[in-house]
Amino acid sequence: MPQIETVYSPSLIEHYSLGGKTVVVADVLRATTSMCVAFAHGITHIVPLVSIYETILYKPQNYITAGERNGQKVEGFEKGNSPFDFMDHDIKDKPLAITTTNGTQAIHASLAAANIYIGAFVNLQAVANKLLAEGQDTIILCAGWKNKFNLEDTLFAGALAGLLYNSGFEMNDDASIAAEALYHTAQNDLTAFIKKSAHAQRFERMGIDRDIDFCMQLDIYDFVPTYVDGKIVI
Ligand code: MLT
Repeated sequence: MPQIETVYSPSLIEHYSLGGKTVVVADVLRATTSMCVAFAHGITHIVPLVSIYETILYKPQNYITAGERNGQKVEGFEKGNSPFDFMDHDIKDKPLAITTTNGTQAIHASLAAANIYIGAFVNLQAVANKLLAEGQDTIILCAGWKNKFNLEDTLFAGALAGLLYNSGFEMNDDASIAAEALYHTAQNDLTAFIKKSAHAQRFERMGIDRDIDFCMQLDIYDFVPTYVDGKIVI
């Protein structure tokens, strides 16, 4: 039976063997949610980048550039990292280069895996269906916040781990068991629970808390963005 493991922070990934496994990268607030939104609105592919400098280099190649640091849009880029930034018609049929504080870093921390999928609450069931169909050992990597644990990605990990476990995956690691238990505690009012998180409070201070309600929606998309050779595609 395939195994599920959960990793609470990119800084812990070095302790796991990724070879032959699938990694699901989750940065629910907001990078992986916004990536799903971008695909739903016609982006052709996404190049996730570690640094602002690398991202700027995509401008002359007619990429839309996007990024944030500490939740704030990077000056000079066309878009920040809000899901609402990727609902404009101007992104249709264009490629996107993006750098974010945690999400794109987590993707780069996963490069040794056989498959890298982009997960968020907005495509939770689609990710679960794909993992169940493929039956590979799976690591759920929480992007966290600057290598620290965060609530929102852990809740996503718990929700996904529960779906996989209920359909026959083995779940023996303490991190998945704890994440699933936390999800059960929170699931009746996920948004209220998430609003206690440090990142949600950061959003409130910045006046962008409408993003939280958007990112907490379940299963509005039925595709799984996948990282292949430097690009995310659907
Ligand atoms: C990140 O990648 O760090 C996050 O998505 C931050 C954000 O909310 O923009």
